[in-house]
Amino acid sequence: GYPHFMLKEIYEQPEAFSKTVVPHVKDGLPSFERDEIPEGFFEKRRHIQIVACGTAMYAGTVGKNLIERFARIPVSVDVASEYRYNDPIVGPGDLVIVISQSGETADTLAALRLAKQKGADTLGIINVIGSSIAREADHVIYTHAGPEIAVASTKAFTVQMAVMFPLALELALKNGTVQPEACRELTSQLLKCRDAMEQALELTKTIPAIVEQAIDSPSLFYIGRGLDHALALEGSLKLKELSYLHSEAYAAGELKHGPISLITDGMPVIALATQQAVLPKTVSNMKEVKARGAKTLLICRHGETVDADAYDYRIDLPEAEDAFMPFTAAVAMQLIAYYKAVQSGCDVDKPRNLAKSVTVE
Ligand code: M6R
Repeated sequence: GYPHFMLKEIYEQPEAFSKTVVPHVKDGLPSFERDEIPEGFFEKRRHIQIVACGTAMYAGTVGKNLIERFARIPVSVDVASEYRYNDPIVGPGDLVIVISQSGETADTLAALRLAKQKGADTLGIINVIGSSIAREADHVIYTHAGPEIAVASTKAFTVQMAVMFPLALELALKNGTVQPEACRELTSQLLKCRDAMEQALELTKTIPAIVEQAIDSPSLFYIGRGLDHALALEGSLKLKELSYLHSEAYAAGELKHGPISLITDGMPVIALATQQAVLPKTVSNMKEVKARGAKTLLICRHGETVDADAYDYRIDLPEAEDAFMPFTAAVAMQLIAYYKAVQSGCDVDKPRNLAKSVTVE
């Protein structure tokens, strides 16, 4: 019923989200009973490392933001291919979380083995049951995206982000930084994200025309701050892997430290501005690039008041609190990349030079 697996998988996200999140919420609080994670595993964690590759690593970056926001525990995120050769400072008492859709990515598996060898406790967030990483990690939280056929990761990404909420909230409860009542309120907001993603799928009606007009250059930028920066990185990766355009993602505040020199007349800049706390800052960055000739596409929450002179095109996302905006932002990012690739005649499901699972270094 769909022209490509990728589009089918984009549409499967609300269901995958529920299948992953619902079993991890009990009486409004996070629950890992089903994963048989022992009581006490999330207690007294002082430092957490997240290790993964590609899109899974960007889900980890969202996880870092959520764990630090709710549990106030410092988290580092590493690319697995770097981690494994950088003699990481990790040992007993530390928690290393590896994230992988396939559970077979060679660098992530090697990073897991290294962390175990150094005495850390390990947790895998894995989509494929019985995969190598799932077998070797001390504990596993399975995501329930179902099989992902398209090379570009979509539903696996959203469920990896989704599982980060119960995880961050469990750590927060154990750390005393979030109380049960506030936690119930947060999980109820989380559960509403399924409907928000359903609504975001309506963007299939408007995004194709916006993409056609807004992305007409071989080179472009994605910018954002905080969670929007993580989503900008993911959006940029998706666009480059599918449509072969040169795309860079930057923390919006970094533009002035170099990349703004690349802004020329008509260069598209896609600005994610879903985080209310930093919205004026991102809007001011948009005005800076626009003043230098950029063509800006704003992605923000529906009803947000943003000066019309900051953007040329605008995509509105269903309203949610800042922490929950990544789900609908991910849908928008995926649709932008998907339609650009379709319009350019690219092989959407099997982009050149890429494999679904990278089982060699
Ligand atoms: O199977 P994994 O999640 O370990 O794969 C990691 C990356 O290779 C993967 O996320 C890749 O970046 C995606 N295909 C990008 O869409």
